[in-house]
Amino acid sequence: MDHRARPYRSVLYIPGSKPRALDKARTLPTDAIIFDLEDAVSADEKAAARALLAETLDAGGYGAKAQLVRINGFGTDWGADDLDAIAAIGPEAILLPKVGDAADIEALAMRLDARPETADTTIWAMMETPLGILNAARIAAAPRMAGFVMGTNDLAKDLICRTRAAMSTSLQMCLLAARAHGLVCVDGVYNAFRDEAGLAAECAEGRDLGFDGKTLIHPAQIDIANQAFAPSPDEIELARRQIAAYEEALREGQGVAVVDGRIVENLHVDTARATLAKAEAIASVEAA
Ligand code: COA
Ligand code: MG
Repeated sequence: MDHRARPYRSVLYIPGSKPRALDKARTLPTDAIIFDLEDAVSADEKAAARALLAETLDAGGYGAKAQLVRINGFGTDWGADDLDAIAAIGPEAILLPKVGDAADIEALAMRLDARPETADTTIWAMMETPLGILNAARIAAAPRMAGFVMGTNDLAKDLICRTRAAMSTSLQMCLLAARAHGLVCVDGVYNAFRDEAGLAAECAEGRDLGFDGKTLIHPAQIDIANQAFAPSPDEIELARRQIAAYEEALREGQGVAVVDGRIVENLHVDTARATLAKAEAIASVEAA
C-alpha cells in the first residue's frame, strides 16, 4: 500500500527486547508498529534484541500494519550493526533517531542504496532535537523520506520546557515541513498510559493541529487513538453531502454550492474526498 494512502492513526512502540509484546502485537488493532532497538532497549540487551527482532520480522504475521524499525543512531556503538541485521530482511521503513540535518538521512540513504534488499525501504525521522526541528524542511526533502515521528520526550528535555504548549512551535514547524513535502507526520507519546481521558484530549489536540496519528506506548492506548484520528460518522456524512451539493451546482453551471449555510468550493470538495478516502483506507485495514 502507498504509505500516504494508509492510515497512521495509531503507531505503537514495541521494545525489540520483549518477545511477549512482539508476539502480542500481531493481533493488536494498531495501524503501525515501531519496533524499537533504541531507547526502549537497555545497553545490555541491545545485541539480543537486534537478533530477536530480525528473527521476528522474518517470521512476519503483522498483516496490513505498517512496520517501522527504529535503529540506534550511527554515532552509537550499535547503529551500524542494527542496520546490518535489519537490512538483511528488507524492512519497509527505518526510523532514524535524533536526526539533526538532511546529511543524517543522506548517509542512511547511501547505506540503503548499497544493498539490493533495501531497494524499496523508506526512511522516517525522529524529530526530537532543537537542531532537527530548525532543519525540518531540509530533512523532509532528503532522499527516501516518508514520515516524521515527533519525539516529544527528548524534545522537552533539550528545550528544558515543562508544557506541551511550549512545544507548539516545534510541532507546527514539523507539520509545515511534512506537508510541504508530502510526508506522514505523527505526534509524540502520552506518557501516563493509564490516563484515558488525558490521552483522548491530547489525541484530539494533535488531530486538530493536523497530525495523521499518535505514537503510543501501551496497547490500552490504541482504540482511543484510532477513534480520535478517524473521520467521525458526522464528518463522513457531511463530506458526502458536500460532494453531492457541489456536483449538483456544477450541473447547474455554478462553481459554488451551499451546505448548512456554508460555501462549498472545489477545495472543500478535495477535503471531503480525502475524508472519504481515509474512511475507506481505515475500513480496508480493519477488514484485513
Ligand atoms: N506493545 C505490545 N504489547 C505491549 C506493549 C507494547 N508497547 N506494552 C505492553 N504490552 C503487553 C504486555 O506484554 C502484556 O501482555 P500480556 O498480557 O500478554 O502479558 C500486556 O500488554 C499488558 O501489559 P502491562 O502489564 O499493562 O504493561 P507493563 O507494566 O508490562 O509495561 C510499559 C508498561 C510502559 C513498560 C510497556 O508498555 C512498554 O514497554 N511500552 C513501550 C515503551 C517504549 O517502547 N518506549 C520507547 C518509546 S517512548
Ligand atoms: Mg527519543
